[in-house]
Amino acid sequence: MKEDDLRALMGQMTLAEKVGQLVQLDGGCFGASDVATGPRAKLGVTQADVDVCGSVLNVLGADEVRRIQDAYLERSRLKVPLPFMADIIYGYQTCYPIPLAQACSFDTDRVRDNYALVAEEAAADGCMVTFSPAVDVARDARWGRVMEMPGEDPYLSARFAAAAVEGFQGGLDEGRGMAACVKHFAGYGAVEGGREYNTVDMSERRFRQDYLSPYKAAVDAGARLVMTSFNTVDMVPATANEWLMRDVLRDEWGFDGVVITDYAAIHELVFHGVAADDREAALLAIRAGVDIDMKTSCYAANLAGLVAEGLLDEAAIEEGCWRVLLLKNELGLFEDPYRGCSAERAAAVACTPDRISSVREMCAESLVLLENKDVDGSPALPLAKVGERLALVGPYADSQDIVGMWAIHADRSHSRSVREAMAAVLGHDPAYAKGCETLLDVSFLGSFAKFAGGGSEDPRTPEELEAEALAVAAGVDTVVLCLGEHMLQSGEAGARTDIRLPDHQVALAAKIKALGKKVVAVLFNGRPLVLTDLLPHVDAILEAWYPGTAGGDAVCDILFGDVNPSGRLAMSFPETSGQMPLYYAQFSTGRPKGGSHEGRFVTGYLDAPNEGLYPFGYGLSYHSARLTGLRLSADTLRPGETLRATVTLSNDSDIAGTDVVQLYVRDLVGSVVRPIKELRGYQRVATRPGERVEVSFDITEEMLRFWRRDMTYGSEPGAFQVMVGFNSQTTASVDFELVG
Ligand code: GLC
Repeated sequence: MKEDDLRALMGQMTLAEKVGQLVQLDGGCFGASDVATGPRAKLGVTQADVDVCGSVLNVLGADEVRRIQDAYLERSRLKVPLPFMADIIYGYQTCYPIPLAQACSFDTDRVRDNYALVAEEAAADGCMVTFSPAVDVARDARWGRVMEMPGEDPYLSARFAAAAVEGFQGGLDEGRGMAACVKHFAGYGAVEGGREYNTVDMSERRFRQDYLSPYKAAVDAGARLVMTSFNTVDMVPATANEWLMRDVLRDEWGFDGVVITDYAAIHELVFHGVAADDREAALLAIRAGVDIDMKTSCYAANLAGLVAEGLLDEAAIEEGCWRVLLLKNELGLFEDPYRGCSAERAAAVACTPDRISSVREMCAESLVLLENKDVDGSPALPLAKVGERLALVGPYADSQDIVGMWAIHADRSHSRSVREAMAAVLGHDPAYAKGCETLLDVSFLGSFAKFAGGGSEDPRTPEELEAEALAVAAGVDTVVLCLGEHMLQSGEAGARTDIRLPDHQVALAAKIKALGKKVVAVLFNGRPLVLTDLLPHVDAILEAWYPGTAGGDAVCDILFGDVNPSGRLAMSFPETSGQMPLYYAQFSTGRPKGGSHEGRFVTGYLDAPNEGLYPFGYGLSYHSARLTGLRLSADTLRPGETLRATVTLSNDSDIAGTDVVQLYVRDLVGSVVRPIKELRGYQRVATRPGERVEVSFDITEEMLRFWRRDMTYGSEPGAFQVMVGFNSQTTASVDFELVG
């Protein structure tokens, strides 16, 4: 529709109809069967509210979308269609590895391609807007939602954010793709104590420096929507925060898309204690520039009254209504309210072989080999397909529940377990035993138990399960032990204070190791875990995260050496839960080790090191490689110029491999403290056996900018260090000076 016609359409709308565009309800409110009771009554919305509602939450399935759209337009006076919005976080029916795993690939080009496939699959089935990507910088593995995020580093997270938005929205103007909604704006990953929905509070400088850049990267990539976060920012809940939503998002960044709240976040302003009731909450949110009220009646029940009482200009409602209408127009809904979705189109693209293989390839780059010790003179991995007597043990060995908590719509029938995949490789079913449950006590699940695969339906006792596993292990040389977290121990509302692998799982590993076997642990989890206790009992550790639809095959691809692992950690693994939050880009402090103080009077703990067990950027491969000869094209850099850092990568082995070469920069003296290093570049570099290649990075003045003492954003002349390595603990460095 032409914009003039759209403007004329809004001119015909009543106040109630304009308010309606700012209300999002879920599918339950559109079910014909619950007219008098059910979701509408609970929400306090009326049929009249539903008839003018602006959008729908979490309804999928082309037939259902068409049914609701038809019924709605039938009753709509001005025939303004509904956009259907849903959580398509990292896959629809075909699921990719969780975002934290994908970030470990350091391959944002592949992320972009994959998310275009996700959009095609979901849009065919009626999804028009996805509440993704989630890009909250996360440095505390106690927080369950780290699984949805691209990790601890702002630079990597920003590139992931842009790639995801470009993937989802590519082709949007040709009727393909989905509009992306970046979330959770802002800073949700910094919840105190890693406790879900907890307070976030930090300096504006830290907030801008470390937490805002991924959202800005998504906005700069054209994200059409932004979702407000549950948390406070400077003691004002994001959903009512005019500084955040207007000064930063709209005025500084120029965002002109739609702002939608997170689930019921306007109503939650009452519980935050900044609104006495829903009426005041609605006023705070609309003043902050929030366009859509997700899943409450705050806007529906109060905005018109606030206008009538003179407390709110109708223009404030028209501001949001106009943005919602523009979004619908960009989605082409006035021309095709279904966006071409159909059951046939959905079936034609769902879980196709090319999608499954793209997941498998993503996995190959996302899984991280953490340990690979020598056993009898050679590395534990890769395993031999012939001649190595193998057994598969563990609660995840024969599980299809390897897609993660947000894979709500995954078609698990296309997931092969590690056991099925291994049987395909070996040509026979490997010796197998479950060994133990993921957890001995799943009471934490409560009503969620029905969503959780596995669980306590196994009639065997823990002792029987263990005895079976030890008997199976006794008959082989090598045991592949598939362990991890319960899938619902991460994701939303999945915060934990103790992030160790459960004691009973570690005990099983120890007993199998005590039989003198080679033990290879494969882990399925949604966060960095504390593996310190497991380490002595295993010869190799492959971090599989929740690898998605082809995860079982991808694990076997790596275990048997068909794929040389190249994943590198996007989030640090701690030695103990007490080290949280843990991240590489630390400040030096006044008492660093090696500084002017000695002994106990330096920054640190009495009972643990400062460093984690595995650092950001770390991961092993089957080939061996080294970096030498780091050099700069000059030792000074002027604004507008480019400095080139070059290093030689040598593959010293007889197999091809890929390394993630990482560039870090340190500002040695700033007007405020600066991290001991910050990631400013990375390249996935493939080499053939024995090959030596030059790897170069361009360094510019823009890369050195930060929020300075006077809260302006820019660089400062002075001394800098460049480090290039295979992980964030790299120290090989060269110096340069920024002048002018
Ligand atoms: C949830 C999540 C958010 C999701 C929304 C809609 O509470 O915080 O990530 O998009 O509600 O399901």
